Amino acid sequence: QHSVKVVGSADKTVDCGAEQTLLDAFLRSGVYLPNSCNQGTCGTCKVKLCSGTVDQPAVSETVLSADDQASGFVLACQSSPTSDAEIEVPLDAGSGPAHPLRDLQGTVHEIRELAHDTVALSVGIDEPLSFSAGQYLEFVVPGSGQIRQYSMANPPSSADRLEFHVRRVPDGAATDRWIFDTLEPGDPIEMRGPWGDFVHGADTDAPMILLAGGTGLAPLKSIALEALDQTPDREIHLYHGVRHRGDLYDVDFWSELRESHPNVHYNPCVSREEWPGRSGYVGDAVVADFDSLRGYVAYLCGPPAMVEAGVKACKRRRMPGRHIHREKYTPAP
Ligand code: FES
Repeated sequence: QHSVKVVGSADKTVDCGAEQTLLDAFLRSGVYLPNSCNQGTCGTCKVKLCSGTVDQPAVSETVLSADDQASGFVLACQSSPTSDAEIEVPLDAGSGPAHPLRDLQGTVHEIRELAHDTVALSVGIDEPLSFSAGQYLEFVVPGSGQIRQYSMANPPSSADRLEFHVRRVPDGAATDRWIFDTLEPGDPIEMRGPWGDFVHGADTDAPMILLAGGTGLAPLKSIALEALDQTPDREIHLYHGVRHRGDLYDVDFWSELRESHPNVHYNPCVSREEWPGRSGYVGDAVVADFDSLRGYVAYLCGPPAMVEAGVKACKRRRMPGRHIHREKYTPAP
């Protein structure tokens, strides 16, 4: 164990094990740090090492610039202390979703087929999880020690039964060889979280654009349900993009929500085949539907190319960058 003194947004000393990352130790102790991928690829968790030493695998300059690295910045999600240390965290970090990180033991409640290659995994937990709509958990894949990340699709108000959307990856360690193969109701699941800073900003009831690609729909479902809990007549426009019609899922859920809430607009978009509904990409559909998105907020989650195109579409319709929240999602094998 090493003592890590936090300076900046919090003034606290945190214990961090030699095998533990700084981010893990901080979040468990209630010191919030911006974080997104927890895999060393996004650069969101950079902090300054003021004194002491850490062990960190080589970091690409596209994630942490050479200048930053020379000035002592490290990635908190990749670094473990090798001595007592002092770490400066960003001053505005105090405003993040400060739900303490914890280990969770879940029990599979139900595995429900949503589409030909996608299931809804419902997991019960003993102690309700405190999280913000949009955050995710890490699952430990049994036998392999590998980690997979899945966003909660349920809103924080139903925090003892968590819902995840899992798409099959051919020969995937977590999917073809576990969730789609041997996993059954009653089985235990080891998880930890919550992680991430893609969260619903509950301080506004501005009309909302939700752009989802594939199972990127999960966190947006959580965000939409929380927004409607708070403001039942909140204007919400969901665009769910998939390649083929058979990839669409949760159609009944959204269609019923649209029936019960005239303020909810559901637009499934299929990009690789003609069908009676909307064809093309979600970003193009938004541009076609709106002349201006001033005064709107947007949440985008899906594959990187979809998210980038969606951000461009929102900006083209004059939505300010600070109102655009995004999370890129790449399925792991
Ligand atoms: Fe993405 Fe650390 S690099 S959270």
